Amino acid sequence: MKSLVEIVRKNKPSSKPRRYPYYTEVYPQYFDPIRMDEMVILEIGVAMGGSLRAYRDYFSNSKIYGIDSDPATEFSEERIEVFIGHQSDTDFLDSVLEDIGDPDIIIDDGSHRWVDQFRTLIHLFQHAKRLYSVEDLQKDKFKLLPKISDFVAQAEATHLHPKSVMFIKEQTCEYLLPEGLDL
Ligand SMILES: C[S@@+](CC[C@H](N)C(=O)[O-])C[C@H]1O[C@@H](n2cnc3c(N)ncnc32)[C@H](O)[C@@H]1O
Repeated sequence: MKSLVEIVRKNKPSSKPRRYPYYTEVYPQYFDPIRMDEMVILEIGVAMGGSLRAYRDYFSNSKIYGIDSDPATEFSEERIEVFIGHQSDTDFLDSVLEDIGDPDIIIDDGSHRWVDQFRTLIHLFQHAKRLYSVEDLQKDKFKLLPKISDFVAQAEATHLHPKSVMFIKEQTCEYLLPEGLDL
């Protein structure tokens, strides 16, 4: 069975090698044990579709959905479908959820603007059944993390939270997870 890094390399051949490690290093320890499960995975940020195809090939029994504001990114393939809309548009997000149900895993690799990341998080967080991940936090100049921490603390108090939340900074591979995570 191919590893996530091998699958990403195949599906994103134009990426520079140094682009691979940050999430391909972090995710496998959590995703490998559940990669054969039947899941719904939603990624915000489609671009050329490389990561959606990588997740389709890696999670062999899951459906992979993408959200992107750029109509040029729209495509559908076996177990992949893309919805076009803005990640901060909560009506749009609701319409996507109506179609696909609550995702097991939500990954935000969209605009990387902290305002968008935060709006999307507060709207979608409670719908992530297993994991909510926000990638590329190195670009937010640390505006998002304190807000997220507050939000997650509140959500935990009201039990409106997925099993876990993960925030990845690319260069350092830093991320936050509760101890003893078992997705
Ligand atoms: C980093 S790229 C996604 C790369 C993709 N996940 C991959 O690894 O192959 C970011 C994408 O987010 C989209 N995007 C930018 N702002 C957005 C917004 N406000 N709502 C939804 N998508 C947005 C862009 O059009 C772009 O395709």
